[in-house]
Amino acid sequence: MLMSTAAPAHTIDLQGAAALAADPPGAALRHLVRLVEAAIAAPIGELAERLDLAYAVAHADDSLVPAAARVAAPDRYARHLLHADAQGRFAILALAWGPGQFSPVHGHYTWCSYAVLDGRLSETTYDYDAASGLARPLGTEVLARGARRCEYAGLSAVHKLGNAEDNVALSLHIYGIDGARVATHVNRVVPSTQH
Ligand SMILES: [Fe+2]
Repeated sequence: MLMSTAAPAHTIDLQGAAALAADPPGAALRHLVRLVEAAIAAPIGELAERLDLAYAVAHADDSLVPAAARVAAPDRYARHLLHADAQGRFAILALAWGPGQFSPVHGHYTWCSYAVLDGRLSETTYDYDAASGLARPLGTEVLARGARRCEYAGLSAVHKLGNAEDNVALSLHIYGIDGARVATHVNRVVPSTQH
């Protein structure tokens, strides 16, 4: 089991949960959900490869993310819930990043993955030093449409993600967590030597 039950340290508002029940999913989202269901049913070692196939669907059909889920918030990046697995095994979200909006430096309580759908995101990766409890930056990469990542729970993959550009960026995220807990049980915020 990859999901940790450790106490959450990072909370951010979740948008779209109410609309989720009202709006039936489109064909592209239904297709994506089926691929994710297949991915999590397969051996865990195949997760990244299988999610990569799922993200290929997302990149092939822009109708996957409706206009309402592409809207950025004025103060910080916006999380729009697109799908919550009925069994609580995973959640699919669209994140809209306004110019200059970044996540905190964080590891993850659960497996997580994402793909850039529109615009460009900057990702800084960190090496977490257990002795000092600090994350040290390793480098920053600019990710354009088509970039995909998949990481497991823990502090072996600490990063900060955000939008250093002038336009809104959009990314699709799939987390191994119940949709009701996605705002509190995904990001494991850690102190760093450089924010
Ligand atoms: Fe993350």
